Amino acid sequence: MSTGEIRKAYLDFFKEKGHVIVPSASLVPENDPTTLFTGSGMQPMLQYFLGTKHPLGKKIADSQKSFRSQDIEEVGDNRHTTFFEMLGNWSFGDYFKRDQIPWMFEFLTEKLKLNPENLYFTCFRGNELLGIEKDELSAKLWQELLKSKGVTNGIQDFSERDGMKDGARIFYYDEKKNWWSRSGVPDNMPEGEPGGPDSEMFWDFGPSTSSGQARHTPDFGAICHVNCDCGRFLEIGNNVFMEYFKTDKGFERLPAPNVDFGGGLERLSAALRNDPDVFNIDVFAPAILALQNATGKKYNEDSETTRLFRIILDHIRGSMFLISDGVTPSNTDQGYVLRRLIRRSITSGRRLNLKENKLADIAETFASLYKDQYPSIGEKISVISNVITEEEKRFRETLEKGIKEFGLLPGPVISGPQSALLYQTYGLPVEVTEELAREKGFVVDRAADEEEMEKHQELSRAGSDKKFKGGLSSHGDREVQYHTATHLLHQALRIVLGEHVYQKGSNITPERLRFDFSHGEKMTDEQKKNVEDLVNQKIAESLPVFREEVSSEEARNMGAIGLFGEKYGDVVSIYRIGSLDSQFSLEFCGGPHVTNTGDLKGTFKIVKEEAVSQGVRRIKAVLE
Ligand code: ALA
Repeated sequence: MSTGEIRKAYLDFFKEKGHVIVPSASLVPENDPTTLFTGSGMQPMLQYFLGTKHPLGKKIADSQKSFRSQDIEEVGDNRHTTFFEMLGNWSFGDYFKRDQIPWMFEFLTEKLKLNPENLYFTCFRGNELLGIEKDELSAKLWQELLKSKGVTNGIQDFSERDGMKDGARIFYYDEKKNWWSRSGVPDNMPEGEPGGPDSEMFWDFGPSTSSGQARHTPDFGAICHVNCDCGRFLEIGNNVFMEYFKTDKGFERLPAPNVDFGGGLERLSAALRNDPDVFNIDVFAPAILALQNATGKKYNEDSETTRLFRIILDHIRGSMFLISDGVTPSNTDQGYVLRRLIRRSITSGRRLNLKENKLADIAETFASLYKDQYPSIGEKISVISNVITEEEKRFRETLEKGIKEFGLLPGPVISGPQSALLYQTYGLPVEVTEELAREKGFVVDRAADEEEMEKHQELSRAGSDKKFKGGLSSHGDREVQYHTATHLLHQALRIVLGEHVYQKGSNITPERLRFDFSHGEKMTDEQKKNVEDLVNQKIAESLPVFREEVSSEEARNMGAIGLFGEKYGDVVSIYRIGSLDSQFSLEFCGGPHVTNTGDLKGTFKIVKEEAVSQGVRRIKAVLE
């Protein structure tokens, strides 16, 4: 079965089980200012767990394009990829464990014909402090299914401590492994967020490689178990049983439990081949051939060649998908990630003697493979090639400068700060610097380079952590002021441009606010001025800002506006700007805000107004 056939079999299977199949959402989230990319099938569905009814019913399935930029540096081994397709099915208050688990087992063993001897499962151990019980029902259901196939089916707790017992197939783990919510473990979840125990499915590639080497080494810990990450077991899917939501008193059950399933398509395909190298699945084959022809090297020639091939394969496929969803290379946000993907492909290609302008051809091999499933690709084939070729041209010029700069270094040792500077200023990765050094009989101080790069990574990680935590990076005074200014701006836009304006995204730093909103046309100078005047007038009026907790019903009746609308639980937080009888703005929001608009220091000024996508405009504004 090809990867495309697995995708089709999955969607057909869930259609037969009464699901509506929906198209993939864009890799660039439309209504979620807190993340750069869609990283799971669940992400675009969040609002349907938060109370909104899905227009197509309670049973939905899809294959979602997903991208995880946090995995860029991991790419090069046999299983990490930045882009992947996540097969998903959802029950929004419809079926639960007793349907989901047998369906999954049927799909894996009957439709894909995976050998049940190689299937392993994990379930949630429970946590008394959280008041959440052990998921014995899921364990029992898997056990019955394995039994029906005549396969050993023992249930074991603490295999990570005691080692896996003979005949054990189902293992309990704690909330770090078997709990899923959008924010991760229960402690990290904000009030109002749904989450629940999950049950994961694993494929066993066997304890040793085809050449007889043990997969587990002490690097992965003393004990081999399904979650030790040595590569023997590959997670092929996760069944999340969303039956709780967090309140100020702890966890409470949702009125109707939900199912959120996500399974990596490429991994299922690798399991079906019983080959742990995901790059050996069919979707990479044409690109591997093209790369082999262009470089004269073989994919499996040696471990370094394999690693470089994988980086190019992953990054060019990811770039192709990002460009098809409208991303272009830049120095910020999604554009910056795309730029890194293309640049890393170029420097990896350079080390394989890949000639200029070949990456666009590789992107085209991927585009023709995926265009039927994802129509935005077909429409953009020439754009994809052009963007990659242009970026390559620009980057090669910088690289040349970096190589010149290298030529000025006296040697014979290239210090940590020197190699880090070549990377940060000219994009020269240390491997390329090392190669240049070798040609001249120099050496690179790798340890010092790593130290230097780590310092840099910590800085950029701190930056992206901020981004992923949400629109507000911290609760500094200036940011709180900008947060309140954002509410004023939102309402002012609705007054000046019309009620079709609503928030599509928001990002605040101590220096400025950024606000994305629905509106089809460029704002005129007059409209911008009217909005500025209105915001400044409200600042001058020194209006009080109140937080109120009301039922979501009441909030809606009062005409509150907001990004997500209602949340689970009766009580929502809203912010009112102005007095009770003449309020200026009323918006769903968790805060924080200033207590009086007079606390906003400075004059509100729009510094930029531009399009972000069709029907969405972006304003950058300052208080100065
Ligand atoms: N949302 C779940 C995950 O991403 C299925 O693993």
